[in-house]
Amino acid sequence: MKEHIHSRKDYQKAILLEENSASHPVDQLKIWLADAEMEGLDDFNAFTLASLGEDGFPDARVVLLRELSVDGLVFYTNYNSKKGKDLLHHVKVSVCFFWPSLERQVRIQGSVAKLLDTESDEYFASRPRESQIGAWASPQSQPINDRAVLEKRIEHFENEFSNTVVPRPPFWGGFRITPVRYEFWQGRPSRLHDRLVYHVDADIKWCRLRVAP
Ligand SMILES: Cc1cc2nc3c(=O)[nH]c(=O)nc-3n(C[C@H](O)[C@H](O)[C@H](O)COP(=O)(O)O)c2cc1C
Repeated sequence: MKEHIHSRKDYQKAILLEENSASHPVDQLKIWLADAEMEGLDDFNAFTLASLGEDGFPDARVVLLRELSVDGLVFYTNYNSKKGKDLLHHVKVSVCFFWPSLERQVRIQGSVAKLLDTESDEYFASRPRESQIGAWASPQSQPINDRAVLEKRIEHFENEFSNTVVPRPPFWGGFRITPVRYEFWQGRPSRLHDRLVYHVDADIKWCRLRVAP
């Protein structure tokens, strides 16, 4: 016999109407991020990033948003990782933020490009030293024999950079996602959720429309 998961919830924390949402999607995302931060949510800036692999399979994982502006969303990673390779091969991505306690989801589609080296340098320099060493030590997404491999590599790079500032590894840096579509979802009672979509029109201006839940 099949066992279904029967959890049900009536969403009623907030509403999302045209008249109470920003006309630019970045402003709306900033408002919702600020709400998530104020709510004290762990990893309020985490989002699921789906890339397309060379094998044709979409692949999703969580990363952290480090910058948000009209130019797009920035996150940092290892360029040689699985995602790094996917993104250099296929620039279109899908993003999903989910804040369960706020009954909110944001979906974004866009294209990625690597940050300038100078931009990644600046962010790398602001990271704690252990994270900087970690970036050198971890061949992200590569098979390793055991945890000891990592620990040895950490030791190696701690020695190598013992008397100096840790430079940014050439294989580590940021990507900027330039969105073409945002969807803001606010849970509402009886499955009549609010869904506002922002998309770029032919004049490269942001248009807003409502879609059915
Ligand atoms: C809350 C959270 C935040 C994360 N933030 C990042 C991040 O900013 N950058 C990153 O490369 N990986 C981050 N990760 C790890 C990724 O989810 C993933 O395991 C890793 O990047 C390797 O993915 P890949 O093999 O698809 O390249 C985070 C994971 C979690 C759960």
